[in-house]
Amino acid sequence: MASGLESLEQNPPDDFVEAELIEPRSGSEPIPFNAPSVVGEEFYHIADAIHRGQLSGDGHYTHLCEVWLQEKTGAGKALLTHSCTAALEMAAILCDLQPGDEVIMPSFTFVSTANAVVMRGAVPVFVDIEENSLNICPQKTREAITDKTKAIFVVHYAGVIADMPAFKAIADEHNLYLVEDAAQALGSTLNGQQAGSFGDLATFSFHETKNVISGEGGALLINNPHMQDRAEIIREKGTNRSQFFRGQVDKYTWVEIGSSYLPGELIAAFLYGQLTRESEIYQQRLAIWKEYDRALTPLVKPLEIQTPHSPTGHDHNGHMYYLLMPTLEMRQAFINSMKQQNITTPFHYIPLHSSPAGERLGRANGSMDVTNRVSDTLVRLPVFYSLKDQSSVIDAIKWALDSSAAN
Ligand SMILES: Cc1ncc(COP(=O)(O)O)c(C=O)c1O
Repeated sequence: MASGLESLEQNPPDDFVEAELIEPRSGSEPIPFNAPSVVGEEFYHIADAIHRGQLSGDGHYTHLCEVWLQEKTGAGKALLTHSCTAALEMAAILCDLQPGDEVIMPSFTFVSTANAVVMRGAVPVFVDIEENSLNICPQKTREAITDKTKAIFVVHYAGVIADMPAFKAIADEHNLYLVEDAAQALGSTLNGQQAGSFGDLATFSFHETKNVISGEGGALLINNPHMQDRAEIIREKGTNRSQFFRGQVDKYTWVEIGSSYLPGELIAAFLYGQLTRESEIYQQRLAIWKEYDRALTPLVKPLEIQTPHSPTGHDHNGHMYYLLMPTLEMRQAFINSMKQQNITTPFHYIPLHSSPAGERLGRANGSMDVTNRVSDTLVRLPVFYSLKDQSSVIDAIKWALDSSAAN
């Protein structure tokens, strides 16, 4: 008969965790934070675009991408741009921002959200984000409204859609334009509704760090029907060239301010290759996201490290997995321990309200406590389509947590 100890060894209880010796990852290939996802189809479409003979913008592949985006999101109209930055600049022109107008936005965002506004002479008014979603807070937005407020630029951080029903109500009540900076959110939904379909306008990024990419690239989605014709003109250097090509006018001329915001056909062809495989890319990233969550949540909870939170009704696109460490020092120790193991785990946005340009060109409204804390403590983990060795990243994280806890 087996002794008590032997029987315990043969039949460990369900919650039994064998003590493991955690070793640092060593002598292995570096694991980057991001690697551009190339799925294969891009090459065929690029060759086809060359064969078709148009390399400038607004051709066959630009239209295919735009139709894809319209069908995916249900947005009124989609226009491809050469970046999300360009789409944000177009959005600022379409909102008719004038010198002195105010635009409410999070401080915890990329510089392009604010630059687009400042380039029209308007003032970004920064408000704090929410603890859980890390998205701009509707109540603090409401408190920041003045008689100069013209628009709200909402950011869907990490692909988690902000509280758009609340923002829509605020915008309607105060007659403000609502713009979604959905750079990271292609494919995310809120109560079944796609990112990019809530605001008057929305912007996507196809930069190589995003889920679906074209190196550099972006799109403007126009849900407000009054802005659609003007958007085409602004993207075509302020001319009515698109109408001319459709045979709606017999010559084209300068009718508005504008710039060259459209990408060439080779970029559009690459992007179309990616869009045709979007659901596979989405599934792959989501699987990586879920595996981090499954493996790390039980480990980090006792250390008071926060993991991403997706509120009810939100289905995100697996764009980003992050940890919020208890302190800046712990974040730095973690990043260093991961670097020691050849794995890059970067932090993210530096708050705009306290940056040199933000202090000069914008203003903060109310406390920025959450923004400051998140900026100091957030660290991002590798998530990309071709990530093969996720278990080795997870083991490295265990060692990094163990060694930072020991220090
Ligand atoms: C929230 C947000 N807005 C805008 C941008 C700018 O995108 P792009 O590089 O396509 O201009 C980024 C880039 O990462 C972003 O994160």
